[in-house]
Amino acid sequence: MKINTHLLLALIVLISSAGFSSTVVSDINSNKSKRHLTDSRNLVDKTLKRSQTRGGIVYKHYCSACHGQTGTGNPRRAKLYGKDQLVIKPNTAEWYEKITRYGGEAVQRSPLMPVWQDELSEEQIADVTKYLTVLSDPVRRGKTVFQTNCILCHGVKADGRGRASVLYNPRPSDLTRSDKNEDYKRLIVTNGGAAMGRSEIMPVWGEQLTSQEIEDVVKFLGTIVVKNE
Ligand code: HEC
Ligand code: HEC
Repeated sequence: MKINTHLLLALIVLISSAGFSSTVVSDINSNKSKRHLTDSRNLVDKTLKRSQTRGGIVYKHYCSACHGQTGTGNPRRAKLYGKDQLVIKPNTAEWYEKITRYGGEAVQRSPLMPVWQDELSEEQIADVTKYLTVLSDPVRRGKTVFQTNCILCHGVKADGRGRASVLYNPRPSDLTRSDKNEDYKRLIVTNGGAAMGRSEIMPVWGEQLTSQEIEDVVKFLGTIVVKNE
């Protein structure tokens, strides 16, 4: 009976909050923010895919001790296994699945890469495999860094039209039209706008992001520049 009351309560909260958010959505939809809201919904659909997120949790739990948080090898384990071997290099999802499921020996690699098929569920293997495809690709990693930290100002499409962009003058840059090189981008991202004689609104990321994450996001930015009109 007690549980039922709780369930009922949860249901009421759920329904009323759904009602609330759809009211907010329709309000916002009626003005200019519509575009940005649609953008963020696409973002949720496309990139914060549940499977990938779950895969990240599996990875942290079972794999990062050897392979490191970012797939570049845990330095302490590297001494034991050889650093190069612990780096997750770009490969196909099928291959990742094979080595994860059946261990290193199954793909003519070191038996020190364990067999995971008895430890992990089918779903966990599929999720972590998906996560590895992102983890091993600098541009995809950079895209994740961008989506996590930059879209509020620069927008989901990096066109400078993030939800908060209207608050600032000068507006956040349209990064798809940037004429700056990688060195410049690395500097402004690391040290912030003010250090470059630009708006102080462009934050200093050097302390919040690792140098790897900054490299990755700069690499990602290089792939989205539109050359001509
Ligand atoms: C006890 C340490 C250890 C753990 C934990 C571990 N691995 Fe490994 N893994 C290795 C070693 C050692 C290799 C290198 C095998 C070789 O190249 O000979 C490796 C290689 C790999 C590779 C191939 C890397 C490449 O690009 O060459 C993948 C992919 C991989 N592991 C995935 C995983 C996943 C997924 C998990 C977690 C579910 C995991 N590993 C957990 C030790 C480990
Ligand atoms: C709080 C808002 C805000 C956030 C968050 C933000 N930026 Fe900016 N960014 C700006 C503003 C504003 C400018 C323009 C500065 C100017 O023109 O003086 C800018 C400029 C830049 C430039 C210079 C582009 C050019 O072509 O000159 C780069 C590169 C950049 N941001 C990258 C990033 C990255 C990468 C992130 C996330 C890690 C990020 N920004 C997060 C506000 C922001």
